[in-house]
Amino acid sequence: MNFNRVKKITGEIVVPGDKSISHRAVMFGALAEGMTEIHGFLQGADCLSTISCFQELGIQIENDRSSNQVKVYGKGLHGLSSPSGMLDVGNSGTTMRLISGILSGQPFESNLTGDASIKKRPMGRIIKPLTMMGADIMSIPANNCAPLRINGSLKTRMQNHGHKKAFLKGIHYESPVASAQIKSSILLAGLYADSPTSVTEPYVSRNHSEIMLRTFGADVATEGTTATIQPNPFLKATKVIVPGDISSAAYFIAAGLIVPDSEVVIRHVGINPTRDGILDVCRMMGADITLENESDSNGEPYADIHVKTSTLKGTTIEGGLIPRLIDELPMIAVLACAAEGTTIIKDAQELKVKESNRIDVMVHNLSLMGADITATDDGMIINGGKPLHGAIINSNKDHRIAMSFAIASLIADNTTTIQDADCVTISYPSFYQDLESLVK
Ligand code: S3P
Repeated sequence: MNFNRVKKITGEIVVPGDKSISHRAVMFGALAEGMTEIHGFLQGADCLSTISCFQELGIQIENDRSSNQVKVYGKGLHGLSSPSGMLDVGNSGTTMRLISGILSGQPFESNLTGDASIKKRPMGRIIKPLTMMGADIMSIPANNCAPLRINGSLKTRMQNHGHKKAFLKGIHYESPVASAQIKSSILLAGLYADSPTSVTEPYVSRNHSEIMLRTFGADVATEGTTATIQPNPFLKATKVIVPGDISSAAYFIAAGLIVPDSEVVIRHVGINPTRDGILDVCRMMGADITLENESDSNGEPYADIHVKTSTLKGTTIEGGLIPRLIDELPMIAVLACAAEGTTIIKDAQELKVKESNRIDVMVHNLSLMGADITATDDGMIINGGKPLHGAIINSNKDHRIAMSFAIASLIADNTTTIQDADCVTISYPSFYQDLESLVK
């Protein structure tokens, strides 16, 4: 797909629903008693994978794609049934890691697989703590990657001989990585444990699971970087209103800042403090960005984000800020190219194990466009202010890479060609149409 420089972008936009919240609403709805109604569900391929996995597990789910309303007919904590075949998570790390926690507490065997990217991503990070809880979970190729086999809980099979209720062991886990996928996987297994389960992380990662599990009736406490869940709650169906995804809004925030003479308002965007690091970085870089109409739905804050073209300066992004903007780092690398001075991104090793190796892929592709960018062990260093020019960009089928380069192309000379541009369907199917609607 080809892209060219634009004169300006202006207007208002509503981005699709938050990916993390959409996944969780389906999962927790499936484990609750009664019908959970989800409004603003993201129709991205990742969230559709979560729906199809839970349908395979015997849950009735109705998805009205025209209104983005989903109804999940939950069967309670012990209502899932044995799937007839492999569960396919597609490209979705969130589906694979969170569902593994749930399946570890079920008294039946399940097998999980996905696409070529997911089969390369590290699963040892959930296999280890889930095994400590008594789960029988293994990497079938024995390389700590998917496909995974989960065999119900060992304890169930040894002690409960055919009884329906599964029991895992409550643990306290010190996670070496600040990762909401690891944390959530363990907390979800903790629903099926014999005592409380807690997870401590080096920094706080996104807390959508903790917030939403509470609205479904679970007892989840948080203190500092530790989250603790009490086992065997009664989960009751609820209504979930999904705010716009700040990770999707990030592309229009960036475009509004770097394209000359631009002004964009992005309506109803989730601004959960564990997710809003992009706003901090924009402010650190000197951006003209304001929040309007701030409100809250089920414990998830949201607002309209208003941006205007700004002169940006380089900054340093590190430590506890990283998990708060992990998915926005490809876009931030582009912002840094448009800024004066040096931007340093460190403590971001996790970028190497996302849908692609996002350090290598960003550095390679931005270099092709003329940027001064160097990869480091845990991030990148960008000397901004060099004019960008068009190039042929291999997105590596990574949605966030494709979208970041679509934005970079708006300020580049000549034509930029993005290969496998349709991978944006993973998190933002209408991305190119929405971008086009703002181009003036
Ligand atoms: C997600 C957590 C993050 C993020 C991913 C979605 C989630 O991954 O990168 O896109 O929904 O929990 P990690 O928790 O592994 O950092």
